[in-house]
This record gives sequence, structure tokens and C-alpha cells, in this order.
Amino acid sequence: MDDLDALKTELIGEVSAAADLDALEQVRISALGKKGRITDLMKGLGQMSADERKEAGQALNALKGHINDALNARKSEMEGAGIDARLEAERVDVTLPPRPEATGSIHPISQTIDEVVSIFGEMGFTVAEGPDMEEDWYNFTALNIPADHPARQEHDTFYLNAEKDGQRMVLRTHTSPVQIRTMQKQKPPIRIIVPGRTYRCDHDATHSPMFHQVEGLVIDEKTHMGHLKGCLNDFFRAFFGLQDLPVRFRPSYFPFTEPSAEVDIGCSFESGTLTIGRGDDKGTGDWLEILGSGMIHPNVLENCGIDSTKYQGFAFGVGIERLAMLKYGIPDLRTFYDSDYRWLKHFGFAGLDVPSLVGRAAV
Ligand code: DAH
Repeated sequence: MDDLDALKTELIGEVSAAADLDALEQVRISALGKKGRITDLMKGLGQMSADERKEAGQALNALKGHINDALNARKSEMEGAGIDARLEAERVDVTLPPRPEATGSIHPISQTIDEVVSIFGEMGFTVAEGPDMEEDWYNFTALNIPADHPARQEHDTFYLNAEKDGQRMVLRTHTSPVQIRTMQKQKPPIRIIVPGRTYRCDHDATHSPMFHQVEGLVIDEKTHMGHLKGCLNDFFRAFFGLQDLPVRFRPSYFPFTEPSAEVDIGCSFESGTLTIGRGDDKGTGDWLEILGSGMIHPNVLENCGIDSTKYQGFAFGVGIERLAMLKYGIPDLRTFYDSDYRWLKHFGFAGLDVPSLVGRAAV
């Protein structure tokens, strides 16, 4: 009883020295088991005087508690280590290493749409969308397209065997019907850009039955032809990354605009190769037609319930494939849809390559 401190030190030493759970159990039995050293000392309490017993009892209980705590702490430490070791030993790696040949890329059409949207986005345009299956009225009538217009012919348009509210359904031949849908539900000022799929009965090296366009529409009380020119000048120069790109507006005809203009950009066909830009230092290059545009026809505004004496604006429509072919040197339109892996790898873009106003580098 005189040397409880020494006993405590000795037992704590044994607890820490125990190498596994069995050894730890032996330490517990030798200290606190039926014939353990602390148990033996407890048994001696009966022969003591009342005062001695009180003091020694407290000391022994404290020692017992202490050793129990040390045993428990060591036990959970060993069990935790056991679980860790088991986890480590039984680890199963269910992942497969990435297959480098399966890395995806952004299709040039998606990339070009992102670029166009990003440039017009910086000019304050928001994106609008409409259905691919369109009603005759939205695709033609509301856009002031007369009954004898060639686009209405069976051989130009995919008519569907379906009607909606008595309207014949078509696969939209352009993104222009989204102008109408937007003007119907939104009051001016309007400034939208509409990327989307369009369809026509055409198939050769420069035409596909399904292709993409971007439509633009601006309406407010003051927008005039000068804004149309400035806006498209800025767009083409940003898109092609050429600050001195010549842009020419040529009188034309579209039923839904008055006046109408086709837009050409400067290029050169020198030695059989098409180059976008001046063509030569004197600016005597050739011209390439690229886009249709004009001031919204008053009939179109009135068809959508917009007062044409108060509001005016411009619209334009441009083919996405054509923009992509010119910017990225893609010679044949059909290759966009062949899903040829080598082509996609060559013309595709990295996933996080965010387009900007000054264009971007190919992967
Ligand atoms: N919708 C025309 C087409 O597909 C393109 C177009 C021309 C759209 C002039 C316009 C525009 O908004 O003003 O050929």
C-alpha cells in the first residue's frame, strides 16, 4: 500500500508496451482480474482500521479508475489502427485510368455558336430560342413572305403531316420565326440573338438538309440603318479577329425587311486559296457574301401587334456552318455531320476554351 505511485507507473508502462489486444488483456487481468494486483490490495482493506480504510480505499479506487482509462484508451487506439490496416489491405481500386483516345472535344459548330453569342452578348444581346417544328404562320406568313415565294415550295421546305390550330407544320427553314415569337411576348426595346437548327431540302457540298443559323433582332424607337452597319462591322471584325476587315452592305431583297442588305466581307482568292481579309495591302481584294439583313418591314411589326409608327429596328440572319468554314478553313460542309473521329479531333476545341471577342486558338 505504501507504493501505489510506483505500481501506477509500472502498470501504465505495461499498458503502453502491450503489442496487441491479447497482451493488453493480460495486463488487465494481472492488475484488475480476480487475483490481480489491485484486486489483492482491495482485499486487504478489510483488515484496516476505519480511518486507514477510508484513505487507502480512495487511493485504490483512483488507481483502478486510472488504469481502466488507460486500458480503454489503448484498446480503442489498437482497434482503430486495426480498421485502418484492414482498409488498407483490402482496398479495391474501382476506377479505370482515362483512355486518352476517348477524350472529347467541342464540335466546331458549338464552338462557333459560343463565339457568336459571346460577341453579341457583350453588345447587350440575350439569347432566345424557338421550336424546330414550326407553324406555317410563324415561318412564312407573319414574316410577310408571300404565297408564291420559292421558300414555300414543296421542294424547298420539309412540310410535316401535322397541323396545330389549323396551321400546317413545317421544319423551320430559318431562325426568323423566333423574331415573331419574341415580338409577340416581349414589348420593345428588344435585343436578341437566336442560334438554332434550320432545315431545307438541299444536299450538296455547300448545302445540308439540316444546318444552323443565328438570327439577330433589335427593336426600339430610334434604331436605324447606321446601327445595323456598326453592329455587324464590329461583329465581323471581332469574330475573324481582323480589325481592318472590309465589310460591304449591298442592296438586296427579303420580304421581312425594307430596305434589305446583303453583307459581304473582304477576301482574296489569290493562287486558288480563299483568305479572309484585305487580300492585299491596297485593299483591292474580292468580296464574299456572308449574311442577310435589313430594317424590319412595318408589316412584320404590325403582325406582332407592335406600332410601326413608333417602333423600328433591324434584323439579320447568318449561317453558322459558313462562318465556321471560313474561320477555321473547313472545305466541305458535309464533314460537319460525318462524325469522323479524325476530323473531330482535328477541328474540335478544348472543353474549357472559352471564346472571347478576339477569337481563339485551335487545339
Ligand atoms: N432568313 C433569311 C434566310 O434564311 C436570312 C435573313 C435575311 C434573316 C435578312 C434576317 C434578315 O433577319 O433581316 O435566308
